[in-house]
Amino acid sequence: MIRLLENFYRSVGIDLGTANLLIYLKGQGIVVDEPTLLAVNNRTNQILAIGEEAKKMLDRTPAHVTLIKPLMNGVISDFEMTEEILRYFLKRAGESNMFSRYKLAAITIPTNLTEVERKSVEDAVISAGASRVLLVEEPIATAIGIRLPVEEPTANMIVNVGGGTTEISIISVGGAVTSRSIKIAGQQLNDDIIKLMKSEHKLLIGEPSAEALKINIGSAVPLSDRSEMAVRGRDIPTGLPKEVMVKNSHVRIAFQKSIKAIADAIKSLLEESPPELVGDVHENGIYLAGGGAMLKGLDKFLEKEVLVDVSLVDDPLTCSVRGLGIIIEDLPRYETILSNQARSRPITP
Ligand SMILES: Nc1ncnc2c1ncn2[C@@H]1O[C@H](COP(=O)(O)OP(=O)(O)OP(=O)(O)O)[C@@H](O)[C@H]1O
Ligand SMILES: [Mg+2]
Repeated sequence: MIRLLENFYRSVGIDLGTANLLIYLKGQGIVVDEPTLLAVNNRTNQILAIGEEAKKMLDRTPAHVTLIKPLMNGVISDFEMTEEILRYFLKRAGESNMFSRYKLAAITIPTNLTEVERKSVEDAVISAGASRVLLVEEPIATAIGIRLPVEEPTANMIVNVGGGTTEISIISVGGAVTSRSIKIAGQQLNDDIIKLMKSEHKLLIGEPSAEALKINIGSAVPLSDRSEMAVRGRDIPTGLPKEVMVKNSHVRIAFQKSIKAIADAIKSLLEESPPELVGDVHENGIYLAGGGAMLKGLDKFLEKEVLVDVSLVDDPLTCSVRGLGIIIEDLPRYETILSNQARSRPITP
């Protein structure tokens, strides 16, 4: 009977990132892929928009509207808003669900979370509509997503360049053996561009423009073709709108220091790791994942700095949630190899 009942419930995989929230629904695939963002009326505390709808308001909001990113550097900083965004998208994902709760939610977490932080992820997911939570360290989800043999005693290095953090992990036998997290990732590169535009062009630009420059003409290494892009903002001396043509070489210079810091963090983790692990990484190469990994030439740049082969994984923005998908589609197989135990609550319709 219980088994029969359980079949009515769905399981989900949630990749709750600083920049993007993705949800995989068992049996269906990725059903939510939206920015982790909410627009709130700060006079009434009413939520006005969530996800993509809220992103459209970025830098275009009246004074009484605040945009909230409920995660900071991969960690929940606004519990209430995290719960709201999870509840909203879980509800939308499960419209076909017979009951309002999910049987199991597998969710990615950074490797360096404290007990309190892990608990707050579990609490947020449970109060947003799941009966049971399985915490999966993000590099493990990524490794499963890119179909690395995670059970085997060979070490692999995953570098996940997200929005708020770059997580560098060496994984083996289903767990992160050693890892390091730095607060330099996609958002920092946007900030670097905003700073450069201020100092070089006396132009104030918003985050969406900086991100567009990064994605369209940014690169980590010099590219053979020259390109430029027009960007609009506010001229600081006059306060008036102004358009500037920005060269790709300029954008590249803006974030040299940041990408060098990523390379240095990889090097120092390798220096501190046991020689057998380093040997494996040398042989297997480094897997570059996360949205920030899509910066043109970042793989080549890191390869040159670290002197280890670096490969960009397929579809770096979705590899973690796809990994969660693989886990929930075949839970008995993966539950045993996941290092952390799921904490359960009884299933209540
Ligand atoms: N083509 C691209 N080139 C460079 N950066 C990109 C590209 N596409 C997306 N990004 C960046 O990827 C980042 C988002 O990546 P991702 O969704 O992996 O982060 P996240 O998982 O939400 O964050 P975190 O893991 O830090 O919590 C953003 O900063 C975005 O600007
Ligand atoms: Mg991430």
